[in-house]
Amino acid sequence: MWAPWWYKSVHNSTHFAPRRKYPRPFPFSFYDVLEQSLPFYNFLKRNVRQTSSLLKPLPVPDLPVPENAKLLSWVGDEILPRESAKVSVFDSVVQGGDAVWEGLRVYNGKIFKLEEHLDRMFDSAKALAFINVPTRDEIKEAIFRTLNANGMFDNTHIRLTLTRGKKVTSGMSPAFNRYGCTLIVLAEWKPPVYDNESGIELVTATTRRNSPNNLDSKIHHNNLLNNILAKVEGNNANADDAIMLDKDGYVSETNATNIFLVKKGRVLTPHADYCLPGITRATVMELVEKENFVLVERRISLSEFHTADEVWTTGTMGELSPVVKIDGRVIGDGKVGPVTRRLQNAYKLLTENAGVPIPTNTEK
Ligand SMILES: Cc1ncc(COP(=O)(O)O)c(C=O)c1O
Repeated sequence: MWAPWWYKSVHNSTHFAPRRKYPRPFPFSFYDVLEQSLPFYNFLKRNVRQTSSLLKPLPVPDLPVPENAKLLSWVGDEILPRESAKVSVFDSVVQGGDAVWEGLRVYNGKIFKLEEHLDRMFDSAKALAFINVPTRDEIKEAIFRTLNANGMFDNTHIRLTLTRGKKVTSGMSPAFNRYGCTLIVLAEWKPPVYDNESGIELVTATTRRNSPNNLDSKIHHNNLLNNILAKVEGNNANADDAIMLDKDGYVSETNATNIFLVKKGRVLTPHADYCLPGITRATVMELVEKENFVLVERRISLSEFHTADEVWTTGTMGELSPVVKIDGRVIGDGKVGPVTRRLQNAYKLLTENAGVPIPTNTEK
């Protein structure tokens, strides 16, 4: 009975400090020192074998292109090595996928369709009511400096991202975005990602492509879950990608590319109502007409794709990719068709010669 009183009195009489209710906070007087030394600490940490940590690390994975282990990326207003190139936990892209992006390709010292990609990026940013957006010249300069720093003048893919920027506190409202947008220029060595020689296989996803009723697919935003869910279905079926239908069951595009078919010598592609109006799509539509094929843009049902003579997909990342099987149906004779080959060649010629030259006198 007397023990609690006794312990309490003895404890008081020792004048020991009372037991802390909470763990000691970080000594904030060292905050600046921590921030300054963290990059070096992280560098050292990456180079020692981890023996214990709160979250057990997975084995270090192989990179698809090992040359990309050492990259320099633009983040905000500086160029940083791959492992240090990070955005804030307060950034809108972390908090809500609140960003817009473009994928561009570099061929032969030039950036293909640079102005068109920047037009679409500015349109997407405007549709999402971004403010304090960097200028076209600033974005171009960041791209040129990043490419120069990496020595990338060919065989390169650039993932250009513009986030709504850092927030003053976590939350959804763009009113919290008072630092301006965050610009990211991620350039990687990357050959076309599909087998454009033998062709690819597609399956149809159950996930429908966003309609203008909810999130307009014409905005090239980073909220990619709609497409990622379709891609999961594609992966589960061991296909290269998945076709996405619109809300009425017509084909819109794949999770990552636009799509075309050939039937009796005519080239058809879905209206850009439910798909991203791809820049490669527009380029290929021009080439189709230049090569004197009839081009039709209309609603196309899945069975028309199943029974087509030829099918291909288009996108900056993969260029023109022949499709040889859809949902288990062999397309045409299962080989890459003559119209596809002709357009692949025309596209190759165009990318070798057109584009915005990368200035090489930029400050590193
Ligand atoms: C869903 C989707 N469709 C199509 C494309 C192809 O667009 P582009 O030809 O402009 O690269 C992309 C590329 O980002 C995409 O994400």
